[in-house]
Amino acid sequence: MLTERVKEIFQEIEQFEVATKEQLEQYRQRFVGRKGVVEALFEGLKDIAKEERRAVGQELNALKNFAIDRFAVIQAEFEANDSGSSGPSVDLTLPVVPNQLGSIHPLTLARAKIIEIFERMGFSVADGPEIESDWYNFTALNFPENHPAREMQDTFFVAKNAEDPTQDMLLRTHTSNVQIRMMERQKPPIRAIMPGRVYRNEAISARAHCFFHQVEGLYIDKNVSFKDLKDTLYHFSKEMFDKDVKIRLRPSFFPFTEPSAEIDIWLGTDTEETYRLSKGTGWVEIAGSGMVDPNVLANCGIDPEEYTGFAFGMGIERIAQLRYGVRDLRLYSENDVRFLRQFEGV
Ligand code: DAH
Repeated sequence: MLTERVKEIFQEIEQFEVATKEQLEQYRQRFVGRKGVVEALFEGLKDIAKEERRAVGQELNALKNFAIDRFAVIQAEFEANDSGSSGPSVDLTLPVVPNQLGSIHPLTLARAKIIEIFERMGFSVADGPEIESDWYNFTALNFPENHPAREMQDTFFVAKNAEDPTQDMLLRTHTSNVQIRMMERQKPPIRAIMPGRVYRNEAISARAHCFFHQVEGLYIDKNVSFKDLKDTLYHFSKEMFDKDVKIRLRPSFFPFTEPSAEIDIWLGTDTEETYRLSKGTGWVEIAGSGMVDPNVLANCGIDPEEYTGFAFGMGIERIAQLRYGVRDLRLYSENDVRFLRQFEGV
């Protein structure tokens, strides 16, 4: 009997239409209030046989909760719609707030492009430590003991080693340390690029910073020649800048390469920008390079009679400057959103 009645009330609640405040009050009185139909059923519980009382009690509680929950929902709807006006509570005439799009840092963009080009030529990507020993940063790379790069005013030393100066610890001044680590670890053929951050003890200005980024390149195998170096960097320049790019190799010196060359690309002097960048010559340097010095190969346990190779190192800031026209090195690390936002969607 009672169960029948419970079912009826369930149905009644479901079908009870509440469109006005009065109807809401009626609902409350009938199904939630102390004098309502649900409470009345609880009164009847005491007349139920003891064995059944528990089960029926549970049914009644379910009904009661159903009525209360439904009341809460309907009431919330009323309150939301009753905020003074009868229209929706958003003002559709206001201008939209635009989506805040993030942007990728220009150095990250340039690095990704460099990696992409070299990966297509079969170079893998390697990484090495920024806190490095003298051995990997200088000595294994054939720097003589008294080379000016080892001066305190050029390099940040972290810890001196009184017994063995090749174990002095420092912030690497270039990514060439990773060359040594690769050659020690891996037998030729080796074909890899090694991007990373480097540090120099420089006064910060538009043209110099105490940290910047490089990509090192290394290719060691049998019969690798200077022509391979030239071809590789020419192809890179075409992909990076323009298919009609002109490059030149200018004789230079690095302790770890022999012969050594600086790679320049032709900008011309047509605009004030290119005149300034090339210091009036039309050429701007993008990388140092050369054939890996036999002493360096030997330092890494590679037989210079059997293997040859080339190496290069380029500054990522410079590449980004040429691609995006960034005039001041400091902009890269100041985190000024007015600068960073200009790369949205690049
Ligand atoms: N390590 C040099 C620098 O920081 C750049 C460089 C020059 C790297 C020639 C090389 C290289 O691997 O062969 O100025």
